[in-house]
Amino acid sequence: MLKGKKVLLCVTGGIAAYKSLDIASSLSKKGVSVDVVMSDNATKFVTPLSFEAITSNPVHISSFDMDFQGIKHISLAKNSDVIIIAPATANAISKLACGLADDLISLTVLATNKKVIIAPAMNVLMYESKVIQDNINILKKRGYSFIEPEEGLLACGDFGKGKLANINHIVDVITENLRVENSLKGKTVLVTTGATREHLDPVRFLSNPSTGKMGYSVAKALIDKGADVILVTGKTNIPKNLNCKFIEVCSAIEMRDAVIDNIKNVDAVVFSAAVADYRPESYFDNKIKKSNDDLTVNLVRNPDIAKEVNLLGLNLVKVGFAAETQNLIENAQEKLSKKGFDFIVANNIKSKNAGFSVDTNKASIIDKYGVTDYDVMTKIELARIIADKLEKVLKDKCM
Ligand SMILES: Cc1cc2nc3c(=O)[nH]c(=O)nc-3n(C[C@H](O)[C@H](O)[C@H](O)COP(=O)(O)O)c2cc1C
Repeated sequence: MLKGKKVLLCVTGGIAAYKSLDIASSLSKKGVSVDVVMSDNATKFVTPLSFEAITSNPVHISSFDMDFQGIKHISLAKNSDVIIIAPATANAISKLACGLADDLISLTVLATNKKVIIAPAMNVLMYESKVIQDNINILKKRGYSFIEPEEGLLACGDFGKGKLANINHIVDVITENLRVENSLKGKTVLVTTGATREHLDPVRFLSNPSTGKMGYSVAKALIDKGADVILVTGKTNIPKNLNCKFIEVCSAIEMRDAVIDNIKNVDAVVFSAAVADYRPESYFDNKIKKSNDDLTVNLVRNPDIAKEVNLLGLNLVKVGFAAETQNLIENAQEKLSKKGFDFIVANNIKSKNAGFSVDTNKASIIDKYGVTDYDVMTKIELARIIADKLEKVLKDKCM
């Protein structure tokens, strides 16, 4: 399963650099191909030769290598499934947070859309300093994953949090990220996500609190199965770091147009966006001035995107979402048949730990065979269940 997978191990100049030899060794023994990039300072702690002997691959240090065919940082970024920085120094973390690109590690990480995992190791006061914690939070918000350091007696003699995480744990996290299945390879799935905005004037709009987390999680679960994903996304604050095609839209009409333009080339579609049913009848090019009079806004129906797709009569798997506040199952069942969905994910947005803005969901999945109720789970877990079911329906339809 791990054979043929590629990890780029970036080693920076901390006292724990020698422990990365064990990471390289453990991954190599599992059949993973490991490329190592070392910062100049890392070479003062451990020799490149040790990594070369363990991985049987040349170690990369300089960005400017005349013997290398192609552009090294672009090539390394593309030719890896997962990038791990271990140990990550305070310096390396801060450089990444600022977008600096003055050595091969920072350049490569900037040039990738692959999964980047960072395992910091440093003195406790350095780790707990406000600037490093702020920089870690900046990177987390941008989608980088962190493996937290452990608490213990540090090389400098201080006690506290800053020890590189356990090597077995680091290797487990890396291998978990490498276990991308290829069961949907060759399939293209279009996913809609986020909230639409229906503008009244340049500064005012009708919308809803959808964050897009559910749709992004579904897109990620499908990508993990090897599918090509087109993510048609309304407004969200989620970093666009998934390995898929993004189409950003604002209004329901823009979302409908993006879906219709792309639907003929896909095998399945997941309608998880929270699309506004109505939009203001008129749009004012300039901000509407406040006056003492009341303002009446006439709302008109927006296109029903799923219904329009159904009317095209294409041979594709269609998955709907129903966010309801009452009669959940009845309303979802009606939607299922009216819009020709293969299955629908229904959730009561009034129930605790479900719906907009939270990381969890409590859903029922309904198809022509019946209703399956699920307990509260993370949106990522629910997304995996949806991706598994979508895969099964595709196979049953022999597509
Ligand atoms: C003996 C010694 C040990 C060090 N250990 C660490 C460490 O564990 N973590 C860290 O963030 N910096 C450590 N530093 C400081 C880094 O080496 C320094 O910030 C350097 O600029 C990092 O360069 P790099 O991030 O390009 O590898 C250490 C420095 C010395 C001299």
